Amino acid sequence: PKRLSVNDLLRMKQAGEKIAMVTAYDATMARLVDAAGIDVVLVGDSVGMTQLGHGSTLPVTLDQMIHHCAAVRRGLDRGSGRAHLVCDMPFGSYQASVDEAVKNAMRLVAEGGAEAVKVEGGHDYAEVVRRIVRAGVPVMGHVGLTPQSVHKLGGYVVQGKDQEKAQQLLADARAMAAAGAYAVVLECIPAELARFITRQLPIPTIGIGAGVHCDGQVLVVNDLLGLDDGFKPKFVRRYGEVGKAIGEAVKAYVSDVREAQFPAEEQSFHGQSLRLLQLVE
Ligand code: KIV
Ligand code: NA
Repeated sequence: PKRLSVNDLLRMKQAGEKIAMVTAYDATMARLVDAAGIDVVLVGDSVGMTQLGHGSTLPVTLDQMIHHCAAVRRGLDRGSGRAHLVCDMPFGSYQASVDEAVKNAMRLVAEGGAEAVKVEGGHDYAEVVRRIVRAGVPVMGHVGLTPQSVHKLGGYVVQGKDQEKAQQLLADARAMAAAGAYAVVLECIPAELARFITRQLPIPTIGIGAGVHCDGQVLVVNDLLGLDDGFKPKFVRRYGEVGKAIGEAVKAYVSDVREAQFPAEEQSFHGQSLRLLQLVE
């Protein structure tokens, strides 16, 4: 099947077809989610938390994003070639100046193999979005709970709960669309507000903790798979218990090694070399 483009995603919104998006951080996971029919793969800066052990997304660097994106690119290229690949612009890579933002977006495409980039922020980042798009790189916006602004927001809390904040969020989402963004992530906002924004915007909305009326949904793949036992926010549905499965598999391996039950005959090699060398007892 041919690769989904930004135009295909727009057509999906217009046709009322939901967009399924998930994060991936390496080639193996990219290949797996692609084979499962995912529409959009996001190399999220959540990599800092899910794979690199940080407590937030703030320490993630542009070079790290490029490293993970390039791995995901290679995994997708070995798969169906259908999924659309977006890479997050990490904290510090687009906030200081528009010129830097454009240069860094281009690195994610040129070196990471991304087809589009995602930036957090609404109308304050309209100019950044406009300039990256003008440079030929499609931009996905991200409004609501924007984890790179966790200190400003005062924590990972639901956004847009009162009238004034909801108006602001709508204005931010509109600003992203007006600046040329091809889609926008709505994170942790009331479902009714997400529904209203989705109806108002000409571009697809992709929700996470934003109710069922968005044009698509995104989840962090570790959360969907149940990789991290201690982490289960309200907006996550676990479609697997892969963390448990890994625990059981590795326990069985450890036990087999200790009891000399692994390897067995079928995992062992044999040859004449030792006999020839007269090393056989
Ligand atoms: O980094 C990430 O995983 C994200 C998604 C949750 C939208 O930005
Ligand atoms: Na992110």
